[in-house]
Amino acid sequence: MKLSAEEQAMLAGDSGPGVRKAMEIVVTLGRIYGARRLVSVGSVQVAGVSYRNLGEAGLEFLREWAGQGARVRVPTTLNPAGMDLHAWRELGFSETFAHRQLAVIEAYRRLGVRTTCTCTPYLVGNVPRRGEHIAWAESSAVSYANSVLGARTNREGGPGALAAAIIGRTAAYGLHLDENRRATLRVVVRCPVRTLSDFGALGYLVGKAARNRVPYFVGLEEACSESALKALGAAMAASGAVALYHVAGVTPEADRPDVLAPDHETLVIDDLRPAYAALNSDVRKIDLVWFGCPHADLEEIAEIVRLLAGRQVKSALWITTAREVREKAETEGLVTAIEAGGGRVVADMCVVVAPMQELSFRTLATPSAKGAAYVPSHAGLQVRYGTVEQCVEAAVTGVWPGCEATPHSRI
Ligand code: F3S
Repeated sequence: MKLSAEEQAMLAGDSGPGVRKAMEIVVTLGRIYGARRLVSVGSVQVAGVSYRNLGEAGLEFLREWAGQGARVRVPTTLNPAGMDLHAWRELGFSETFAHRQLAVIEAYRRLGVRTTCTCTPYLVGNVPRRGEHIAWAESSAVSYANSVLGARTNREGGPGALAAAIIGRTAAYGLHLDENRRATLRVVVRCPVRTLSDFGALGYLVGKAARNRVPYFVGLEEACSESALKALGAAMAASGAVALYHVAGVTPEADRPDVLAPDHETLVIDDLRPAYAALNSDVRKIDLVWFGCPHADLEEIAEIVRLLAGRQVKSALWITTAREVREKAETEGLVTAIEAGGGRVVADMCVVVAPMQELSFRTLATPSAKGAAYVPSHAGLQVRYGTVEQCVEAAVTGVWPGCEATPHSRI
């Protein structure tokens, strides 16, 4: 790998041990993946924030790096934590967990990271330009940045992303290179895809088939809102490892004349029911209804307010979002409206990485395919997956729609 004189000096330790460690990580990753050089990055999104996943070893690693003088040199935002950093007590998280989680946030702050705690950094000012090289962790954000914004990033791991932030560079391989951004799987959609959960279901099926290939969708032009693309990409990143996709007539690189690789395969999707079947378990009573995976934008919150229509909820209802988005929602009266119905707009956190076993929930409903795919194994709850409307009704009645007449069903 060819390094500039400045990069060689950083690798030799001229800028201190913290920078040397970051260079070693980025250069090692570059060598493994056959990169020939490093590229400057415009921004970084760091994952690995919940103390539940990091543990004491992870916290110590961050503190040590900060103690070695490492500081980020490009705008760097942070993934969700394992709790709302302000309202954790009201939500029921323990003092022990909260204390350690806040220590993790403090360690990131010392490293110079903006402690945004969201998986939608593009909703809080970290919006890369088309063609800009970035180093983002968090698979749903990576997918959105590459596909919808046209920026260039691989699926970074936590330490790799932080290292890139500290040296302001990443290794030029994978999706940083033109040739790897061509579609290798043409996806022909022949069934209606109308709702957010339909987009998630489609993403779930395509992700499973695509693994880490680059899909090119045909037949979706009509229905693609930004929320729909967010749901589609998050689902493909969860059931597969899709980091970039194109939608004919919609996404920025889809009209490249050479967008389809010559040896691409074709996949036809004509039925979303297998995804709904795979993501649903047979539970009737719903303890928690979760919206905001990926973190909700203002329109999504407003939609839930509209569907609640002033009714009270019987289940717990959480909408997870970025703190900055929550503040805007508060200004617009949306938080008050949700809280008046007994729900909560929860900032900073993600249910999948939260210590949910500390709370009393056993079942969850969500319109997010990524959430539905991860919650059973990561948070230990049984899941119902359906439309935003079905989830709102579940919150109001406390049972999954259609299950009202079966009072003796399981759970
Ligand atoms: Fe975000 Fe957590 Fe979903 S990180 S995409 S809310 S699983």
